Amino acid sequence: MKNEKTQKKKLSINDIKNKKGIEPIIMITAYDALFAKLFDDYADIILVGDSLNMSFNMQESTISADMNTMLYHTKAVCNGAKNTFIMADMPFGSYTNEKQAIKNAMKFFKQTNTDAVKLEVGMHQVNLVKRLCEEGINVMAHIGLKPQFYKFEGGYKIKGRSEIEAKKLIEEALAFEQVGAFGILLEGTMSSVASEITKQVHVPVIGIGSGVNVDGQVLVWSDMLGFFEDFKPKFVKRYLDGADIVRKSVQSYANDVKGKNFPSEEFCY
Ligand code: KIV
Repeated sequence: MKNEKTQKKKLSINDIKNKKGIEPIIMITAYDALFAKLFDDYADIILVGDSLNMSFNMQESTISADMNTMLYHTKAVCNGAKNTFIMADMPFGSYTNEKQAIKNAMKFFKQTNTDAVKLEVGMHQVNLVKRLCEEGINVMAHIGLKPQFYKFEGGYKIKGRSEIEAKKLIEEALAFEQVGAFGILLEGTMSSVASEITKQVHVPVIGIGSGVNVDGQVLVWSDMLGFFEDFKPKFVKRYLDGADIVRKSVQSYANDVKGKNFPSEEFCY
């Protein structure tokens, strides 16, 4: 019997929509080809998140990420993960009006192999999302805690604590579904509200820090694998002590070089 690994099939936009209520959607971020390739067998969606500005580029927030950076990293992720649906984050300031949003979303679609874009949006941008969908762009609407509003809101604030906020989030989710968003990304939202939104909309709701009663989960790879150490949000489960492992390995290498134990005979020509 052949022991061949069956190659995972890349999901289409319809496969993803059809998972709602059937099977949890697995989403993870990636910023480069090397890690994207490692995630390719297990993820339904890989998000090239603008979180890379913080966890890969050590900036204070996602705000200074720009189009060129996001395009570069999206290309890299597409090179690494050939069998996964890829979604690119549109950076802060790249979709301030419909014309600009379409122009920049088109850049992702024309210059990379991405399958979708994600935008942090509010009620005033319902028409903008509608226009993107009309142009053939797959859009995921990111609502709830929106990291691009970090400076405006004076920090990262959990959403849906009040009845008014909960109602607003439900209305937003319904509005974005109605204009064609293929999914909702719900960040930092009270679990009870996330659960209600998931019940009310017919497209998948992917949660991050929004409890278990949603249609899928996303985590930032460098958080969940323990490479980003500056802070750990409550919702992050660490599956690996990546930074520790790397540090110890590089220390061993440094000791080997210092002690002239590397390269030993086996590594020489
Ligand atoms: O940029 C990102 O990685 C994100 C996730 C936090 C969902 O938007």
